[in-house]
Order: sequence, then C-alpha cells, then structure tokens
Amino acid sequence: MSEKEEEIELAKKNAAMRAVEENLKSNTILGVGSGSTIVHAVKRVAEIIREKKWDIKCIPTSFQAYQLIMEHGLNYTTLDRHPIIDLDIDGADEIDQDLNLIKGGGGCLVQEKIIASNSKKVIIVADYRKVSTRLGENWKKGIPIEIIPMAATPILKKIEQMGGRPSLRMARAKMGPVITDNGNFIIDADFGIIEQPKVLNEKLLNIPGVVDTGLFISLTSRVYIGEKRGNIKIIDKNN
Ligand code: A5P
Repeated sequence: MSEKEEEIELAKKNAAMRAVEENLKSNTILGVGSGSTIVHAVKRVAEIIREKKWDIKCIPTSFQAYQLIMEHGLNYTTLDRHPIIDLDIDGADEIDQDLNLIKGGGGCLVQEKIIASNSKKVIIVADYRKVSTRLGENWKKGIPIEIIPMAATPILKKIEQMGGRPSLRMARAKMGPVITDNGNFIIDADFGIIEQPKVLNEKLLNIPGVVDTGLFISLTSRVYIGEKRGNIKIIDKNN
C-alpha cells in the first residue's frame, strides 16, 4: 500500500470506529451498509458486542454486508422481523453540503436505500475525498441507477435525452454487464455537477424500468468524515 492509500484507509477506519462508538447502544436493530469503509465499522461492532455482551441485531444492505455479518458471528435479522431499524451505518461515494449523497459505486444502492429509508438514524462514514459542495464535483463516474435488464436500451436513450451521459456498468471478472444482488443491471449516468439533486432523482425515478437511483436525498442524519492526520469531522443535518 502506498503512503497515500494508507492515509485514506486510516481515515476510513477512524471515521467508522468513532461512528460506532458514539452511536451504538444495546438492544439495537442495526442496518449494516456496504463498501470498504463499513468493513471497519463491522469489526468495531463485533468487538463491542464481545466486550459488553450487548444485544444487537443486524440487517444487511447487500450480499457483502450479509457476509460481513456472518463472518463476525453477528445476529442476523430481516426487515420482515424488524421493519423499523434503529440505526443504519453506511458509506457514501459523495456527500454534498446538505448531506445528500451519491451511493452505489459498489452496486448496492437499492437495498441500501430501502434500509436507510426505514431507519430512525442514518450515519454515514467516509474519508475526506468524499466531501463536496455539490454532487458531481468529486464523483466523476456518474450516478449509479439500478434498472430492469430488458429496459436497458430505452432507459439509456431517455437518460441521453435528459442531458446525461449514461453507460451500462460492465463486469470485470465476468463477460457482460454487472448483475446486482437483485438480478438487475446498473447504468452510471454522468450529469456533470448536479444543481438540483432532488429534481433529478424524481425525473430518473419516473422512467419505467428504473428500480432506484444512487441519489440519497434528505436521508442522512449525521456524517463522520475521517480527515488527514487522524482528525474526524462530524456534520449534522441542517448544520
Ligand atoms: C455501495 O454500493 C456504495 O453505496 C458504498 O456504500 C459506497 O460506494 C462507499 O464505499 P466505500 O466505503 O468503499 O468508499
């Protein structure tokens, strides 16, 4: 790992650990997010449960999160058993000044949004590279959009007509497109800097065949940003 990569990894770890330590309580239904930052959070959750014998039940946001829950021997539950989640901890690809997010870089946006929107408190953990004034400033790969496979071609055309530059996300270790945990495809649509994320989200959701978008509007309660040199910046909603 280069010095820069080590610095980023440490920033992720610091943010994740602090978020868990400050927000986890006993008797909690916990939404477990996806991505690389969340791996540090799950490790800390497992340590706290071992030390304090707390009752924590975890609902995953992806197959990766399910694997993390199993690997660490955590209690697993479902939305059918616990439709109201006390605390959701997740990562993000970009965070704007209003705490709106771009998510789905890892392809898990649909279940992540279901869990976030059924959580009393949504805590986002990220490193310093993820913070922007407006969405699209730092995250240049486009907005991830999960779609029904048979609608791919018309959806690509409609996004172009809306002024976006869409591409179907292709798999790396398999021929053809990425298949999500839900059996769908992902389109990454570049809209440049997004002035009105709520409006854009609504327009995209109106296209038949779009399952959901990686624009997370007004769902975040608080973010923990791991900065360089070990500091952590905490930003609350409406601050
Ligand atoms: C998964 O689809 C994403 O939404 C992740 O939560 C997001 O990409 C953050 O991932 P990292 O923690 O790996 O940056």
